[in-house]
Amino acid sequence: MRTPLVAGNWKMNKTAAQARQLVQEMLPGLQAVTTVERVICPPFPAIWAVSELLQGTGIGLGAQNLYWEASGAFTGEVSPGMVKEFCQYVILGHSERRAYFGETDVTVNRKVKAALANELIPIVCVGETLTENEAGQTAAVIERQLRLGLQELSPEQGQKLVIAYEPVWAIGTGRAASGTGANAVVADCIRPTLASLFGEAVAQSIRILYGGSVTAANAAEFFSQPEIDGALVGGASLKPAEFVPITQAAAR
Ligand code: 13P
Repeated sequence: MRTPLVAGNWKMNKTAAQARQLVQEMLPGLQAVTTVERVICPPFPAIWAVSELLQGTGIGLGAQNLYWEASGAFTGEVSPGMVKEFCQYVILGHSERRAYFGETDVTVNRKVKAALANELIPIVCVGETLTENEAGQTAAVIERQLRLGLQELSPEQGQKLVIAYEPVWAIGTGRAASGTGANAVVADCIRPTLASLFGEAVAQSIRILYGGSVTAANAAEFFSQPEIDGALVGGASLKPAEFVPITQAAAR
């Protein structure tokens, strides 16, 4: 059995003060949903403030990125150890980082290894663009992202991963994938690729989330799919009236 996981990716939203207020608004609702792993991923400057509020609540904290080196002259970057001081999770390879910040499968792989070496749970994002989708390249693109991004990991390391399937055309567009469509990508491509990398048993144990325009209204459609184990939520994770019901839908 895979425990459902719902993570909120706040992206570049909320100051530390605003983050504190938002967490306080959501906290009672989130705490009530005990059968779902719930994770909040605020921007770096808000991590400390949010970590204090989440102490002892059972709700996890995640970063949205890290750099693979332990320390040194890397202006503007944040090391795995710095993340680990406050967080249990880290989102890696998000399509926005690939599109705007030069992230590649190679750098994603370095970051995944660094996260695992520091006992952080990587939430590794994969997904095709609209052009790739329309050209019938969805499976090939995702398989490449997984094979290169997860290169040289052992099955023991593979077991610790969370994968997020986020079709780029569905992110922030209000145009979510269909539940059955997303489930088919997971069933036909993502889980088989994980099985070929780590073996069938490990592949069956890895949580695979859907992300892309998830709302309180459509969440149940994804969670009712047998291969989808939760969601990586962007815009709706900034609204308590959306994010709390999404976690409740994952509990059903
Ligand atoms: P939206 O939920 O805003 O479409 O964003 C999804 C996402 O990118 C989560 O990482």
